[in-house]
Amino acid sequence: MKCLNDFVLKLKNKEFAPLMLGGMGVDISTADLAVAFANNGAIGHISDALTTAVADKNFKTTFVRDRLKKFKFNKDNDDKNIEQFDLDDIRRAQKMHVKDAMSAKKGNGGIFINCMEKLTMNNPRDTLKARLESALDAGIDGITLSAGLHMNSLNLIKNHPRFNDAILGIIVSSTRALKIFLKKAQIVSRLPDFIVVEGPKAGGHLGFGMDWADFNLKKITQEVIDYLKNLKLSIPIIPAGGIFNGKQAVEYMNMGCSAVQVATRFTVSVESGLPDKAKQAYFTAKKEDIIVNYLSPTGYPMRMLKQSPVIGSGLAPNCESYGYLLDKGRCSYIDSYNKTKSELKNPTDKVVVTDKMCICTQMRKYNVWTCGVNTYKLKKTSKQDQNGNYILPPAKEIIDEYLYSK
Ligand SMILES: Cc1cc2nc3c(=O)[nH]c(=O)nc-3n(C[C@H](O)[C@H](O)[C@H](O)COP(=O)(O)O)c2cc1C
Repeated sequence: MKCLNDFVLKLKNKEFAPLMLGGMGVDISTADLAVAFANNGAIGHISDALTTAVADKNFKTTFVRDRLKKFKFNKDNDDKNIEQFDLDDIRRAQKMHVKDAMSAKKGNGGIFINCMEKLTMNNPRDTLKARLESALDAGIDGITLSAGLHMNSLNLIKNHPRFNDAILGIIVSSTRALKIFLKKAQIVSRLPDFIVVEGPKAGGHLGFGMDWADFNLKKITQEVIDYLKNLKLSIPIIPAGGIFNGKQAVEYMNMGCSAVQVATRFTVSVESGLPDKAKQAYFTAKKEDIIVNYLSPTGYPMRMLKQSPVIGSGLAPNCESYGYLLDKGRCSYIDSYNKTKSELKNPTDKVVVTDKMCICTQMRKYNVWTCGVNTYKLKKTSKQDQNGNYILPPAKEIIDEYLYSK
C-alpha cells in the first residue's frame, strides 16, 4: 500500500511533496505555518487577506491608523466611495508579508499566496493588480487565485516579468467555473500550472449554495479530470475539502490527482494564527456546532462554528480603518447594521445584526471561527493536558502524518 509521499507533485520544472496547505485568511495560515510545509518539501500558502492590517500586526507599520486618520471625516456617510486604498500602501504591505515568509524558507518546498478576488477593496481591478504584482516582485513561488472566477486576473499581470516563470493556479468548485477561466486564460496564452478543485466540505467561503451537501468532491474531481482529458490538457489537479488523513489523500492520488490541499487539521497547530481560545473551541466542537450561513458580505456562504464570537454581534461598521469588502463605496453589512439600528424600539438598545457580519473587523479580531466539515474530528488527533486543554500539535507532526501514514 502506498503513502502520500510515494507520489511527487510536479509543477513546471519543480518537484514537491504532494501536500499543499490551503490559504487561511486572516493570517491563520501564518508565514510560520507555510514555512513548515516548504521546509518539508511541500507547499504552504500564506493569504493576502487584509494585507495592510496583517503588516501592522506583524511588522508594526501604521497603515490602518493612517487610513482611519484620512477618512474619519466620512464615518457617518453610508457612501464610502471616497475611501480608496493607497495602492502604494498595498504594495508595501504585500512585499513585507511575502518577503517575511520567503526569507524564512529553508527547504525545497514552495510558498504560495492565496489571492481572493472577492476582496474588492473599493477598487477591485487596481487593488488586485497591486496585490498580485507586488507578490511577484517580492519573490513569491506561486499564486493561487481564489474566491471568484478571476476572468481578468491573468490579464492584469501579463506584462509582469515573472508572468511565465511563477507558478500560477486557480481554485474552482465546478467544471463550469474552470471552463470560464480557461477560456480567458487562452486569450493571454497562459494556462494555469495547477487547478485546486475545492469541494463542499472545505472551510472558509464555499463555492456552493445552501445545497452544498448535495455535492461530492470525488465526483467533481472526476468531472474535472475527464474534462481536461477531453481537451488533451495535462494540468495537475489538487482536490481540497474534507481530506483528513494520508489514507484519504492517497485515494485521490490513485484517481490521477497530483496532490491534495488541506487546512482544517492545521487550524489547531502550534503555528496557526488563531488565538488559543479559538483552537480549543475547534478541538471541543461537536458535529452539530459546525454550520453554514450567509453572514459574509461577500454573498458567498461560509462555514463556521456556531460558537464564533461574531454571531450575535452588532459592531458599528469600521470601513474607515479596514474597508476591504467595499465595492463602489458599499458593503452589505452597512445596510444591515443601519436597518437593524433604525428598527430598535429604544435607540439605546444594543444593536444585534443577525443577517450579516462586519467581516473585516471580525476576521481581524479572530472572531469568525471558520472551519471545515471535519473540525469535530480534531479532538481525536490530540490529547488533553491535566487542565483539560488539548495539546497543540506542531505542524511538522501533522505534515508527517499526511505524508507517511498508510
Ligand atoms: C480557518 C480556515 C480559513 C480559510 N480561509 C480561506 C481563505 O482565506 N481563502 C481560501 O481560498 N480558502 C480558505 N480556506 C479553505 C482552505 O484553504 C482549504 O481549501 C480547505 O479548507 C481544505 O479543506 P479542509 O479544511 O477540510 O482540509 C480556509 C479554510 C479554513 C479551515
